[in-house]
Amino acid sequence: MTILITGGAGFIGSHFTRRMVNQGRRVVALDKLTYAGNLENLKDVTEDAKPSNLLRFYTGDICEQRLVERILSEESIDTIVNFAAESHVDRSISSASTFIDTDMKGVFVLLEASKQFTINKFIQISTDEVYGTAHQGAFKETDALNPSNPYAASKAGGDRLAYAYWVTYKLPVIITRASNNYGSHQYPEKFIPLFITNALEDKKLPLYGDGKQVRDWIHVDDHCEAIDFLMTHGENGEVYNIGGGNERYNIDTAYFILDELKKPGTLIEHVKDREGHDRRYALDCAKLMSLGWKPKIRFENGLSDTVKWYINNQSWWKRIKNGEFMEYYKNQYSHRFASADSQIC
Ligand code: NAD
Ligand code: DAU
Repeated sequence: MTILITGGAGFIGSHFTRRMVNQGRRVVALDKLTYAGNLENLKDVTEDAKPSNLLRFYTGDICEQRLVERILSEESIDTIVNFAAESHVDRSISSASTFIDTDMKGVFVLLEASKQFTINKFIQISTDEVYGTAHQGAFKETDALNPSNPYAASKAGGDRLAYAYWVTYKLPVIITRASNNYGSHQYPEKFIPLFITNALEDKKLPLYGDGKQVRDWIHVDDHCEAIDFLMTHGENGEVYNIGGGNERYNIDTAYFILDELKKPGTLIEHVKDREGHDRRYALDCAKLMSLGWKPKIRFENGLSDTVKWYINNQSWWKRIKNGEFMEYYKNQYSHRFASADSQIC
């Protein structure tokens, strides 16, 4: 069995690739290596896997039909797990076009190619953002989708397109909707790694609005374990929520990070809120749990380990923060910070 993992050099995709290779499974990773893709994320498995040829890496775009078809035919792909996406909400608010390309058209290209070959499982990695804000309670898989930013809407498009290929063509599709992931190797544009690395550099932490938005955090290892579990226990045509059961206010998470690093609360600066900011995400995961999976990692333990990882791997994130990131950070945050001493650079 060969698994095609798209987006295999990104945050979650690289963790999943490592997990599969360490289990002795043959993996083909396809990644465009956008700003978020990083071959360093796969360094340990690339080196370990070479003698046994367990991992083959293609640099390329899931929107390229010919490339995708060639990989499916030449590599005898049996299972596809599609992580490839433009994944950052703030970037989608500034410019949505690559989100429409990869998160919708890219899914279409993968689904169309899958129809032509013997694919036994197609797992579309969707997100809890497709539901929009949880005003009360927690979302079930059958709840209506109300995506409220361009990223979430493009993911909802990919999510429903995958479902349509099950209904129409009986392509064996499973759709997963996970909550906010955290862990090692996460690109520092996202809330947790941005706040950890800024604090390590004694820079301000830009907390959007009042910081009372709620996110349900899941450790990336728990998320990858759930996907692995669904590869064998999931039913075709079904959607599965994957949550960590760790609802936290952003402001509490920010203070936890500062406490771990023994840095002062004065580093937090309340800044202009994100447009269309979803106030709260919450998932009901009873469907997945009834099959026998549950998350194992307590948020405070997982976050403490994550903070240690960023302390011990400064060369990994400093290289990123010196590159394209710096331009993005200036555009995204310079107008938000009120004071001149907020150390944008
Ligand atoms: P990421 O941005 O870290 O990684 C995305 C990867 O996809 C990168 O390696 C990038 O180079 C690659 N990629 C982008 N466009 C591509 C294209 N056209 N062709 C091939 N490769 C391309 O994202 P992540 O946080 O690891 O998220 C992975 C998946 O999980 C995404 O589909 C995302 O929507 C979903 N998800 C993420 C979270 C989260 O909290 N991070 C939660 C739920 C769902
Ligand atoms: O819920 C799943 C989604 O989680 C995934 O589908 C997305 O790919 C992933 O990026 C994430 O989306 P969020 O928008 O929730 O994540 P982000 O890390 O950008 O923000 C988390 C919260 O922190 C959110 O309420 C906004 C806030 N925030 C974020 C940044 C970057 C800040 O207060 N300041 C910031 O600088």
